Amino acid sequence: MTTATESVELTRVGPGTVMGKLMREYWIPALMSSEVERGGAPVRLMLLGEKLIAVRDDAGRVGVMDHRCPHRGASLFLGRNEDGGIRCIYHGWKFDVSGRCLDMPNVSPQQDFKHKVGAKAYRAVERAGIVWVYMGARAEAPPLPGFEILDVPDGEVGALFIQRDCNYLQALEGDIDTSHFGFLHAGHVEADELEKNDPIYHTVAIRAPEYHIADTDWGTSYAGHRAAGPGRTSWRFGNFMFPFWTQVPNGEFSQHVQVRGWVPLDDEHTMYCVLWWKRGLSAMNQSDPAYKDGALIGGMGRRNDFLPNTTDWLGRWRLAANASNDWRMDRAAQRDGTIYSGIESIHLQDQAVTESMGPILDHTFEHLAPSDQMITRTRRRLLMAARALRDKGLPPPGAENVEVFRDARGGYFVADAGSGWQDTYAKELAGAARPARGVLQAAK
Ligand code: FES
Ligand SMILES: [Fe+2]
Repeated sequence: MTTATESVELTRVGPGTVMGKLMREYWIPALMSSEVERGGAPVRLMLLGEKLIAVRDDAGRVGVMDHRCPHRGASLFLGRNEDGGIRCIYHGWKFDVSGRCLDMPNVSPQQDFKHKVGAKAYRAVERAGIVWVYMGARAEAPPLPGFEILDVPDGEVGALFIQRDCNYLQALEGDIDTSHFGFLHAGHVEADELEKNDPIYHTVAIRAPEYHIADTDWGTSYAGHRAAGPGRTSWRFGNFMFPFWTQVPNGEFSQHVQVRGWVPLDDEHTMYCVLWWKRGLSAMNQSDPAYKDGALIGGMGRRNDFLPNTTDWLGRWRLAANASNDWRMDRAAQRDGTIYSGIESIHLQDQAVTESMGPILDHTFEHLAPSDQMITRTRRRLLMAARALRDKGLPPPGAENVEVFRDARGGYFVADAGSGWQDTYAKELAGAARPARGVLQAAK
């Protein structure tokens, strides 16, 4: 069980918190490159409880900085993006994207101290259509994480952001809680309605899978396994990767190059950020699941209806179905068995249950079951790493040695029974499609 103290340590991410410090050891996906227009208006951005702006200058360089002007604190969100920097509209001070003060026009040349003052700017790089930001204290930023997906050419990477209105931990834990699939998402589907080779066949044939779980160099891993006919086993592998990433089994293992980030915007809001290989066999690339007679399975659509983005701190990538309209729940569909949950899509079903827990779940309220071992283990791994950083200054997994992420993969497959789960994983990975090993982008 998770104590009240552990719950607070795990869920709070602001500056100075235990988990906030851990998160700041890593590069964080902040926004889509397309959200910041060259020479255009700044974007309000909340990350780890800090109010920031992102802006692209007229030379195309992206900056992510504290929104407050270091003169008297007016918001640089209001600023003028002009000629190589952002100019505060209050007294005209101007900063480049690295925070350097370029101009202090309300002060006489003799008293000008622009060389002594700077806006607080974080290091930012662009990769896979995303602006990544490093909010840590190291003089030299680490490389980007060594994910396989970042070996893929940018043009072959799909990226999607969706805001979730709850703490990052309960959102993330939906991804490593594999036994919910046969209920929340597929409770209305029977195995005999599906083709035998359908990816979800085994998950509904046996709804209480057995598990293997272990700590790994990148975080934690699990394998859900079920008997799949004589001498065969159905495997579903998934991972947690430091500090807020997952890989889920919703794709053919041999081609499933994907990561899912649960980026804390603040303690009560999270940005889901998924990156996937468009050429691989992932749920993101496949048509909507169907029964063997060809009819679409209810509640498994992949469409997301977004509200228009606004300039608010928390106004980006919000879904139209949300707590205010009960996630557009259809009680008739729930009752007649068309959709077990009554909620329209897999993502929205996950969104509804985790948001319904409230902004931050009271973890002392839970009654964790044997099916929750992956959750318990992942919390422990996060806590231990955050405390080791706080108490001994030990860098957390993958913060320096970013290569630990390279062999992490999630996905499903059926294999001959009899081998150990980790051997089975290694063998499947050895035969899997892998994007060419590229050179990691050097951090500035
Ligand atoms: S507050 Fe920004 S220039 Fe004065
Ligand atoms: Fe789910």
